[in-house]
Order: sequence, then structure tokens, then C-alpha cells
Amino acid sequence: MAVPEWLLGIVRKLEIALNSGDTTVAQSSPLAGKKRKANKTRGWIPRVIKPVVFVLSLVPIVLLAISVFTGNAGANPIETVERDTGEWTLRFICLTLFATPLANLFKSAWPKRLRRMIGLFAFFYAAMHLLSFLWLDHWFAWSDILADILKRPYITVGFLSFLILLPLAVTSNRWAVKRLARRWAALHRWVYVAAVLGVIHFVWLTKGDQLEPVVYLLILIGLLAYRLVALLKADKA
Ligand code: HEM
Repeated sequence: MAVPEWLLGIVRKLEIALNSGDTTVAQSSPLAGKKRKANKTRGWIPRVIKPVVFVLSLVPIVLLAISVFTGNAGANPIETVERDTGEWTLRFICLTLFATPLANLFKSAWPKRLRRMIGLFAFFYAAMHLLSFLWLDHWFAWSDILADILKRPYITVGFLSFLILLPLAVTSNRWAVKRLARRWAALHRWVYVAAVLGVIHFVWLTKGDQLEPVVYLLILIGLLAYRLVALLKADKA
């Protein structure tokens, strides 16, 4: 799909401004010394966009908390909390996976610069989802929880997905990127497995109309196909 020139222009400008406040890019770029210092002070976009994305990412949990505390979370608030946090986990995982296609489409690195934050929010919502299950659903009755995880396949699959997300979140920092070197990328490809398990979990628990989980499934198949084609192209080159 061809991206209009004017849109590419806007993305380029955003990227220049975004890079100018990023010390890692500044170090690897031809900019040095004083120029680099001056650019750091002009990096207003990371200072604006990142906090804006951060605040926007908190909106779902704030709205959910408001609906619960004002008694507007429906007839079964526990189910509402569980379902809402589960769905936001899946949405944030999908957003994370969109970073590479968007970066390639706009020939720009900035979607990838937001990826770590969005990925960590996926984990945050997964942790809230798990907490709602452990606390609101089971009041930390560990034997019941264990029985549920072992006996109900959709919960087993959801739990596996969470177990995959955990090391990804723990290694989402510069230290781990350095320490794991090449293994880091291989480890983080497991996000696709976590996403697939998340969708299977969703399909499995949904009785009746399957439209919503099927939409997530199609999005995921599209993202996986994109990745596969990119890998095959890279192999040929
Ligand atoms: C940590 C282990 C997990 C447990 C114990 C768990 C458990 C649950 C439970 C009990 C529900 C509500 C079912 C119902 O109301 O009938 C649910 C819904 C859901 N969960 Fe999980 N889940 C887990 C992990 C995950 C993960 C990692 C994802 C995403 C990748 C996810 C995505 C969802 C979605 C999308 C829903 C349904 C939302 C809706 O109905 O709109 N879950 N989960």
C-alpha cells in the first residue's frame, strides 16, 4: 500500500523531533558534542508524546475504576472487571505488534520507540486481569485457583499466556537487551505465542456470538502473515 507523500513528510518531521531528544540515537548519529546537547533540549516530542501515550494508556483502567466505584459496572461488576482487563490486555498486545508494520509502512522508527511502553502496559493489564481473577473471583483461595487453572482449559491457556508475558516484561529494559544480546529478540518473538494463546482463551470462554474473538483472530493472523512475509523476504535478500 502506498503512503501519501504528505503523510510521510509529517512522520519524518515527527521522527526528527523524536530522535533529537533520544540520547541513544544522538550518540549513534553524526551529530556530536554541542549539536547533540542542543538537540537534546529540543527533543520536545518524546517529552510530549510519550507522556501523552502513557496517560492515554491509563484511561481504560481509570474509567473501569470509576464505573466500579460509582456502581455503573453492570449487574456483575466482577465479571466486568475481568472481561475489561482481559480485553485491554489483548488490545495492547495487538498494538505492540503493530509497531513493526507501522514503522515499515512509514519508513520511520518512531512507532518502535513507543513499543516498549505499550508492551509494558499490555503486561500491566494482564497483571490486573490476573489479580481480578485471584482476588475478586477467588479471594485468594489457592486450592480453588489451582483447581480452576488445571481443570478449565480456557483458564489454563490464559495462564500460559500470562506466563509467557512475564519474562518479556521483566526483560523489557536496556540492561536485559545488552545481557541477552541476540537471544533477546528470539525471546521477545514469544509475544506472538502469548497473543495466539490469549485469542484461543477468548474464543474458548465466549459462548454464543464469536464475532469479537474472531476479529482479534483475524488481526493476529494478518500480523503473523506480515511477519512471515518479511522474514521470507529477508532470507531471500
Ligand atoms: C493470568 C491468567 C489468566 C486468567 C486466570 C484469566 C481468566 C479469565 C477469566 C476468568 C475471564 C472471564 C470469563 C468470563 O467472564 O466468563 C477472562 C476473560 C478474558 N481474558 Fe483472561 N485470563 C488470564 C490471562 C489472560 C491473558 C494473558 C489474556 C490476553 C492475552 C486474556 C484475555 C482475556 C479476554 C480477551 C477475556 C474476555 C473479555 C471479554 O469477554 O470481553 N486473559 N479471563
